[in-house]
Amino acid sequence: MNRILFVAGAALIILAAQGCQGGASGIDAAALLEERCSECHKPEIPKNARKSRAEWEKTVARMIDKGAKLSPDEKRALVRYLSRVYKL
Ligand code: HEC
Repeated sequence: MNRILFVAGAALIILAAQGCQGGASGIDAAALLEERCSECHKPEIPKNARKSRAEWEKTVARMIDKGAKLSPDEKRALVRYLSRVYKL
């Protein structure tokens, strides 16, 4: 009985930990693109671009250098989104 409870408890902890990771990527990258990438130019500039993941990584880093406001988590989510939707 104790053993079963232990296994069930361990499974719950694993599920909860995975839930947290999901929460970190629960960032709305499409909204970030609209809000943060339209401060200096139209969001159509990135939307009309087609780049590989490495190129988006570089481009977004360059935009952050210029002053785009993105936390490291937001940057990661946005690069992932851009390289999926606006891929070469
Ligand atoms: C602080 C101002 C600023 C913000 C915020 C900004 N950009 Fe830019 N962006 C620029 C400027 C200036 C240029 C033109 C010069 C250049 O390309 O470096 C540009 C050009 C671009 C280009 C065309 C050039 C290329 O490399 O293909 C893309 C794509 C782009 N930005 C994507 C983005 C994305 C994605 C975001 C949101 C993370 C963003 N920008 C936010 C200033 C900004």
